[in-house]
Amino acid sequence: MPFKIESKLPQSGISIFAQMTAAAIRNQAINLAQGFPNFSPPEELFEFLNEAVRNGYNQYAAMPGLDLLRNQIALRIQNDYQFTANPESEITITAGATQAIYTIISSVIQAGDRVLIFEPAYDSYGPSVLVNGGIPVYLRLQLPDFKIPWDELETILKKEKIKIILINNPHNPAGRVLNTEDILRLQQLTKDLNTLIIWDEVYDLLIFDQLKHQSALLYPELMDRSVVVFSMGKTLHNTGWKVGYTIAKPEITNEIRKLHQFTVFSVNTPAQYAIAKFMETHRSFFNLLPKFYQQKRDYFFEKMNDLPFNWLPCEGSYFALADYSNISKLSDREFAMELVEKFKVAAIPLSPFYHDGYDPKLLRFCFAKTTDTIDNAATQLKIKN
Ligand SMILES: Cc1ncc(COP(=O)(O)O)c(C=O)c1O
Repeated sequence: MPFKIESKLPQSGISIFAQMTAAAIRNQAINLAQGFPNFSPPEELFEFLNEAVRNGYNQYAAMPGLDLLRNQIALRIQNDYQFTANPESEITITAGATQAIYTIISSVIQAGDRVLIFEPAYDSYGPSVLVNGGIPVYLRLQLPDFKIPWDELETILKKEKIKIILINNPHNPAGRVLNTEDILRLQQLTKDLNTLIIWDEVYDLLIFDQLKHQSALLYPELMDRSVVVFSMGKTLHNTGWKVGYTIAKPEITNEIRKLHQFTVFSVNTPAQYAIAKFMETHRSFFNLLPKFYQQKRDYFFEKMNDLPFNWLPCEGSYFALADYSNISKLSDREFAMELVEKFKVAAIPLSPFYHDGYDPKLLRFCFAKTTDTIDNAATQLKIKN
């Protein structure tokens, strides 16, 4: 008898990213939908990868990650955020940020526990909670600035027992960042609660206009109840390598590692070696990243400036949001399909970032693209303008 599977995630289908990419291919369109660079990682990284496989880095790495890489991460965290993370007990290498976030949620959440998720939200948050028997509590960020609705948050935290709060900073898809007051307010609101805060800081180095990234690592008191998650893919233009890491106090790290060892056990060894060597020898690459992406953002906005969209400010990440409400009454999904079919440019509608399909009439464009791609997209959009 064929096995009849009962879905643990009945609401989840093919992601909007896959759908829009399929639409881009079908329509031979320029793909500004998917959130990854269409340019190469630095050449030296390939040389270190080559060196790794030739020098015997081909077997399982240590479960929490190669020492080499954890030491480099400790240095960079000390340097960037003046936070002393012990590589032995506080840094864990993961298969990207997505696995990190899943593993943290899974190690902490018991059936019926509540997890606060701000929307729009990265697509893995809700399902990671649901599949572990948790209950997502969704709270919309306030438009047009995507501010945290503090009063509502305070009410929820007073009324309900929230086991985890998930924060994404800089924010995908909003492109906004939190300031010191935001972080201190959250610190104050959670100080007497037994609540873990997961900080998804995968875009920490993609921050513009001289803003200083307000990492949770800058707030020692918060670190008693926080895990901070990073992704190498976002910084090294190699999202496909799927290497990320977590930083948390030993007691929290210990629990995360218990599950990490039974899910992935350890992460791709040659990739870890190559990244560690690159970090050791190319510090300036990381220092120049904010400027590199700021130039991309500025170029993108300059090229797209005379389109009839209202572009929202972008302080961080590699996403720009276009408000199209003054030119079309279509839903965001319909409008995104019209754009890809008629104008041959693919973008992501924002409603899939909301569990209830809320549609703020915004499209997300990824500007981690070569100037040629940005030029061509702008030309395509202008031709039919
Ligand atoms: C906010 C956010 N968190 C996590 C991730 C996943 O990172 P990784 O590719 O390292 O799993 C992404 C990737 O798009 C993201 O935008």
